[in-house]
Amino acid sequence: MTLSSILVLHGPNLNLLGTREPEIYGSATLSDHVDTVKAEASLHGIAVADLQSPSESELVSAIQQAKGAHDAIIINAGALTHYSWALHDALRSFPGKIVEVHLSNPGAREDFRHVSVLSSVVDGTISGFGGTGYALAVQALVRLS
Ligand code: DQA
Repeated sequence: MTLSSILVLHGPNLNLLGTREPEIYGSATLSDHVDTVKAEASLHGIAVADLQSPSESELVSAIQQAKGAHDAIIINAGALTHYSWALHDALRSFPGKIVEVHLSNPGAREDFRHVSVLSSVVDGTISGFGGTGYALAVQALVRLS
C-alpha cells in the first residue's frame, strides 16, 4: 500500500477535549492530537487531513469521499463507536487501512462502551494510551504499508 495521505476523523464531543472530563481524556485539545498525527506523519512524508463532526452523516460522507483521496483513515468516533452501523458500513467500503483510536480504554469503563461496532471493519484498535495512541496509529499504518 502507498501511504501518502491519512484522513483523521473525530466524532461527537471530541471538540471539547481539553475541558471534557480531563481525568478521563486528559488535558490535551483536539488540535493537539491532530498535531501529534501531523508531526508523526511528516516524519514519513505523509499528508494529513482532518475532520471533527458530531454528525454521523457528515462522517459517513467524509469516509465515502476518502476513497481515492486518502490511503488510510484514523478514526476516533466517540460515542458513535458503540452504535453507528452507518459508520460501520461506510468504513467497510473504504479500501485502505483503518486504525480506530480511543484516548481512554472503553473496555475498562461502563458496559455500553465495551462494544465497538467499528472493530470488525478496522485493521486494528489502539485504546487507553491517551494522546500517544495517535502517534502509535501513524506508526502502525507506516508499518502496514
Ligand atoms: C472515546 C471513548 C468513547 O466511549 C467516548 O464516547 C468518547 C471518547 C475515547 O477516545 O476514549 O467520546 O472514543
